[in-house]
Amino acid sequence: MTELSSLILDRIRDVPDYPQPGVLFKDITPLLADPVAFDAVIEELAGLYEVDKIVGIEARGFILAAPTAVRAGAGFVPVRKKGKLPSETLEASYDLEYGSATIEVHRDAFVPGERVLIVDDVLATGGTARAAVELVRRAGADVVAVAVLMELAFLKGRERLTDVELHTLVVV
Ligand code: PRP
Repeated sequence: MTELSSLILDRIRDVPDYPQPGVLFKDITPLLADPVAFDAVIEELAGLYEVDKIVGIEARGFILAAPTAVRAGAGFVPVRKKGKLPSETLEASYDLEYGSATIEVHRDAFVPGERVLIVDDVLATGGTARAAVELVRRAGADVVAVAVLMELAFLKGRERLTDVELHTLVVV
């Protein structure tokens, strides 16, 4: 196991039965509260790819994507839950591990052909990342990769992202 993997795994807290019975929630707040570990994660994410824009997915994705964009010298673009973006949007709906959701991006968020990295905290069923990839492509940009802090392998989200590069910092 790498030093970065240990830094991350040692700071993820398992919370049973959240947000509903039977779900073991992976809480990243201990990692975020540790400035050395948080900085190491951002440094790693920022060095992965040469991109023009970094997309963060509301809400926990924002926490990782925005500092990664600043560190990488890239622009930040929010993908938000429906109804939160003020200008004209594109939208995509998807099923979650628990429930369903619609996400949106501003229609003019990208210059055509821009290189984009999508960043989120967790890849679970892959529905969110799949929808984000489609949104960014429909908005005219080139998705270089999806990068996530943590992949929940047993939910097989990776199988929904076979047409895009996927980089995960830890697999649990
Ligand atoms: C979580 C997580 C990912 C998504 C992963 O977000 O932050 O975005 O679920 O699940 P999936 O791979 O099954 O689609 P959530 O919708 O709980 O929102 P939050 O970040 O606002 O808490």
